[in-house]
Amino acid sequence: MDPQVEIRGCRSRKELQEVVELCDEAFDDTAREYFERHMFKDGTISQEDTRVLVRGGSIVSSVQVFPRTIYMGEKKVRMGGIGNVATLPSERKKGYSEQVMRDAMEFMRQKGFLVSLLTTTINDYYKRFGFQTLNRRLVKTDVIPRQDQSHIEVFDFSRDAAQVMRLYDSDNAKNTGPIVRDADYWRSQIDFCGEDPKLFLVWRDGEEILGYVRGRKETGSTKILEYAFANGREEIPRALFADLAYRAGQPKLDVFVSRTENKRLSLLQSRQSEVDTYFMAAFFGDGIDDRTREGILTHNDFTFWLTDYF
Ligand SMILES: CC(C)(COP(=O)(O)OP(=O)(O)OC[C@H]1O[C@@H](n2cnc3c(N)ncnc32)[C@H](O)[C@@H]1OP(=O)(O)O)[C@@H](O)C(=O)NCCC(=O)NCCS
Repeated sequence: MDPQVEIRGCRSRKELQEVVELCDEAFDDTAREYFERHMFKDGTISQEDTRVLVRGGSIVSSVQVFPRTIYMGEKKVRMGGIGNVATLPSERKKGYSEQVMRDAMEFMRQKGFLVSLLTTTINDYYKRFGFQTLNRRLVKTDVIPRQDQSHIEVFDFSRDAAQVMRLYDSDNAKNTGPIVRDADYWRSQIDFCGEDPKLFLVWRDGEEILGYVRGRKETGSTKILEYAFANGREEIPRALFADLAYRAGQPKLDVFVSRTENKRLSLLQSRQSEVDTYFMAAFFGDGIDDRTREGILTHNDFTFWLTDYF
């Protein structure tokens, strides 16, 4: 390796800021605000989790490892989320990103992560590091007209957070893929996910919250970022989805649906859908059994809420 080249974690806020500049330059279609948000508002990531290649005193390539824990059936498993893979445009095709990615893989292995996840459009590139594509189902559907909204309100953190957190846990703890969230993570995530707070809705029956949805207005549709609801109460997501689409001003809905979710929400079953291949997973060692791997990679047994995007 070139003696002028060093690969390591960031050591100061100044270096993290340099990575923000680097990402802003490397990604054509993403606003700088996005990188700042994920760098400085995510309280779970430490300086050394941002891996960089430094040459002659300047950062030329980066990979971030977001430390997470995910539910996998009855187990909780350490997961490293890969994000902000970038090399300065003038320094590309010299193998720099590959070197930082290899460092990041080793970094995760040493930390005891069993899984790594990333989203990408250049899937072939990541195959060389052991990543495999997950085929996820993106359902596109029209929502039913907005009806009774008397149970629906905009989420208020101090009033609703504790109940929403409990609902999240009870809905997700048996699934494969969702992030294990504690109160600190929730606080951080609400900051770094960049959602429109007016599109975080709760469904309440008196004092009790029995469902919620978080969404984003997109061109031509409303994207569901996350939802949860009390078992057997399918009228709740119906009402929430309809009201969300109305508030966003886009009557069409886009929602990722895992096999598990598909079973419990008939609203999403027989509509137009497409296969999404943005997600990739890599496994370290043999800590994840073959059946779970097959479920993830082949059968869409994977729930990932877009609010957790890194
Ligand atoms: C992707 C990126 C980080 C690669 O950085 P790099 O330092 O040039 O990478 P390396 O030199 O290690 O490897 C270059 C490889 O990247 C692959 N690659 C880069 N851009 C690609 C693209 N748009 N589509 C497919 N492959 C691509 C090439 O296949 C090349 O492979 P080769 O070694 O067989 O020639 C860099 O092009 C970049 O910053 N792109 C913009 C940001 C981005 O898209 N990041 C990835 C988000 S998932």
